[in-house]
Amino acid sequence: MEGKVALVTGGSRGIGKAIALELAKSGATVVINYNGSRDKAMDLKQEIGGRGGRAEIYQCNVSDFAKCEELVHGIVKQYGSLDILVNNAGITKDGLLMKMSEEDFDKVVDVNLKGAFNTIRFASRQMLKQKSGRIINLSSVVGVAGNAGQANYASSKAGIIGLTKAAAKELASRGITVNAIAPGFIETDMTDALPEKVKEATVSQIPLGRFGRPQDVARLAAFLASESSGYITGQVIHVDGGMVM
Ligand SMILES: NC(=O)c1ccc[n+]([C@@H]2O[C@H](COP(=O)([O-])OP(=O)(O)OC[C@H]3O[C@@H](n4cnc5c(N)ncnc54)[C@H](OP(=O)(O)O)[C@@H]3O)[C@@H](O)[C@H]2O)c1
Repeated sequence: MEGKVALVTGGSRGIGKAIALELAKSGATVVINYNGSRDKAMDLKQEIGGRGGRAEIYQCNVSDFAKCEELVHGIVKQYGSLDILVNNAGITKDGLLMKMSEEDFDKVVDVNLKGAFNTIRFASRQMLKQKSGRIINLSSVVGVAGNAGQANYASSKAGIIGLTKAAAKELASRGITVNAIAPGFIETDMTDALPEKVKEATVSQIPLGRFGRPQDVARLAAFLASESSGYITGQVIHVDGGMVM
C-alpha cells in the first residue's frame, strides 16, 4: 500500500485503531479521524511514526455533512489523493424499543449510518476521478440478525449493508470496490461496557468460544483495502467466530 492514502473514521480506539495500525504497517499514509479522543489519536500517530509509518490526525464528527466535506477536501489538498476509506466510527445507545427516545434513535443512525454516507458522498467523487478506490464499511452481525435492546444500532448496521451494496453497484465501473465487515463481539470499549452475565451468555453462542480481537477485524480490512481484493465488491464478510452463519 506504499503511496496510498487511507482515512479511518473513529480511528483513535478499538477496531479503528487496529485498522489504522494494520494499514500503516502495509505502507499506507493513514489519516486517523477522531471525535472526542484527541490524546488517543495523538498517541496512535506517534506509535505509527515510531514504527516508521506515516499518520496524521483529524477531528471531525462524522454525522456532520459539511465537516465531512472539509475532512475529505483537506486530505486531498494535503496528500493529492484518497485511496482507502474505512467507515469505522460507531456508537451504541441501547434500550428496549418501547422505551427508546427519539433522540437515542436519531443519534445512533446519524453517526453509524449517515456518517458513512457523508464520507462516501465526498470520498467517492475523488475516487471516481482517480478511477480507483477501496471503501470498507463496518456493519455488525446485529445488522444481519437483529438484537433485542438495539433497534437503533441494528437499523443503522442493516442500513450500512444497503449503503454498501448500492455504492458498490454505482462505483464498480470505475474500479472502486465497496465492502462491509460484520464483526461479532470484539474486545473493545464498546463491549467492555456489557454486564458480565451478558458477556458469558454471548460467549456461549460463539462456536469458536471467545470474543474476537480488534486485529481479527483489522487483518480483513487490510486485505479488502489491498490490490489483492480487486474482484470482491458488494460483500458483507463476517468476522464473528461463527456466531451468525
Ligand atoms: N466491538 C464490537 O464488538 C463490534 C461489533 C460489531 C461492529 N462493531 C463496529 O465497529 C466499529 C468500531 O467499534 P469499536 O468496538 O472499536 O468501538 P469503540 O471502541 O467504542 O470506538 C468507537 C470509535 O468511534 C469513534 N466515534 C464515535 N462517534 C464518532 C463521531 N460522531 N465522529 C467520529 N468518530 C466517532 C470514537 O472516536 P472518539 O473516541 O474520538 O469519540 C472511537 O474511535 C463501530 O462501527 C462498531 O459499531 C463493533
